[in-house]
Amino acid sequence: MDYTILHQQLASLAREERRYVPLLSNAAALLYHSLPHLNWAGFYLVRRDELLLGPFQGNVACIRIAPGKGVCGAAWQQNATQRVDDVHAFPGHIACDSASNAEIVIPLRQNGRVIGVMDLDSPFYSRFDENDQAGLEEFARILENALILED
Ligand code: SME
Repeated sequence: MDYTILHQQLASLAREERRYVPLLSNAAALLYHSLPHLNWAGFYLVRRDELLLGPFQGNVACIRIAPGKGVCGAAWQQNATQRVDDVHAFPGHIACDSASNAEIVIPLRQNGRVIGVMDLDSPFYSRFDENDQAGLEEFARILENALILED
């Protein structure tokens, strides 16, 4: 998978609008419809002391995630990408969609703080490899450099 075009498409969208609702909505659509074998792609944003569901594509998802809970909460608390080959083996995994078997969650940072996470789920075990991680981390860097959290 070559992520170059995806990065260019995201950068182009970010040049047009940086506010989080349109930018994250289009970013979720771009991911979901460009990458094969996904059943969910989207964002959770840090709001007070929890992660709150943001723009996404896929099935209805859990609305709030506490710090350290599930894969998303771990990515937030550890400030580190979580690439999980088998979510059923991940302690505390939150099963929003029973179709999910693999997951990657990447923190979004601004001013040295995690402001949210980007979450992709797949029905395929070990769906995400090192190349996907590198491509998605670069995608996240483009987003966090552009993102304006105010309405
Ligand atoms: N499975 C995630 C929760 C979010 S959903 O996948 C959309 C987790 O364990 O953090």
